[in-house]
Amino acid sequence: MMFLITLLRSSILWEDIMKFTTALASATILAASMFGVASAADMTVGFSQIGSESGWRAAETTLTKQQAEQRGIDLKFADAQQKQENQIKALRSFIAQGVDAILVAPVVATGWDEVLQEAKDAEIPVILLDRKVDASDDLYMTAVTSDTVHEGNVAGKWLVDTVAGKPCNVVELQGTTGSSPAIDRKKGFEDAIAGHDNLKIVRSQTGDFTRTKGKEVMESFLKAEDGGKNICALYAHNDDMAVGAIQAIKEAGLKPGTDILVVSIDAVPDIFQAMAAGEANATVELTPNMAGPACDALDAFRKDGTTPPKWIQTESKLYTQADDPAKVYEEKKGLGY
Ligand code: AHR
Repeated sequence: MMFLITLLRSSILWEDIMKFTTALASATILAASMFGVASAADMTVGFSQIGSESGWRAAETTLTKQQAEQRGIDLKFADAQQKQENQIKALRSFIAQGVDAILVAPVVATGWDEVLQEAKDAEIPVILLDRKVDASDDLYMTAVTSDTVHEGNVAGKWLVDTVAGKPCNVVELQGTTGSSPAIDRKKGFEDAIAGHDNLKIVRSQTGDFTRTKGKEVMESFLKAEDGGKNICALYAHNDDMAVGAIQAIKEAGLKPGTDILVVSIDAVPDIFQAMAAGEANATVELTPNMAGPACDALDAFRKDGTTPPKWIQTESKLYTQADDPAKVYEEKKGLGY
C-alpha cells in the first residue's frame, strides 16, 4: 500500500507509467495486426468535416483527430469550407482511394443520395457525425448525433419556466439554412412554447452558426424592435451566435442576461464565461466527441461484423446559472474548443 501511495505521488514515476501504457497500447495494436485481428488500428478513414464555423466544430475536429491517433487510424481529413459540393468531392476522392470507412458531418440535410449510393456500391461504410441527412438509412451505417429536436425543446421549456407566464417576445437566431440541427432545433423550441400564449417569436433569421453573423443579425433585430425594448429573450441555435449577439446587445446599451434573456445550444467554454458574467442564462450541451462512438462502431464491425443501430444518440444536458458556470468554464477550456 505504502509502495502504491509513493508511486502515485511521484510525477517522474507517473510519466514512466504513462510511457509504459502508451507502449502497451502500441504493442496491442501491433499484436492485433500481426495476428490478423481486424481493428480500427489498421484502418484508413476519410473524414469530411463541414468547416470551422463555431467553437464546437473546432472541438469536434480536434477530438476526431485525437481519437484517430489514439486508435492508430490513418485519418484523411478534408475541410469543406461550409460547401456541400466540396464534401461530395471529398467523399468521391475517399471512395477512389479505397478507404476502409468514411465519416461525414453533412452541412445540409438534402442532396446526399447519389454519393452515398456510390460509397455503398464500393462497400465502404459511411458514418454520419452530428447532423442527419434526408436519405434512406440503407445508404449509411449509422448516425452519431444528439436528439436535436429535444435540444430545442429543452431550451424552449427552460424559457417557459423562467418567464413563468409573463409576456415575452423572443428573437431566434437560426443555424445554417437546410441543416438538420437548424430545422430540428427550431421545431423543438416551437413545440415547447406552443400553447404558452405569453411567448411569441417576433423575429427569426439565420446567423449561419457563426459569431459574426449572430452579431450582425442581432443588431438588425435590435433596430427593428425599438432598440431592443420589445425583446425579452434570445434563442440562438448555437452558443457562437449567442456570444456574437451578446456583444450586439451590450453595444445597444442593454444588459444581456437581464434585459434580454439568452438561451442557446452547445455548451462551449465561451458561453460559460458569459454565464459567469451574468450575460447568458442557459445552454444545452452537445458533446463534440462524436468520433469516439463512431470508431467503436467501426471497430465492432471490423471485428465480427456487428452492425450498429442506425442511430447512436449522444446526451443533451441543460446548464443554467445553478451549475457554477465559472467552474464549468475551467473544466472545459482546455478540451479543444
Ligand atoms: O451540427 C452541430 C452544430 O454545428 C453545432 O451546434 C454548431 O455549433 C455547429 O456549427
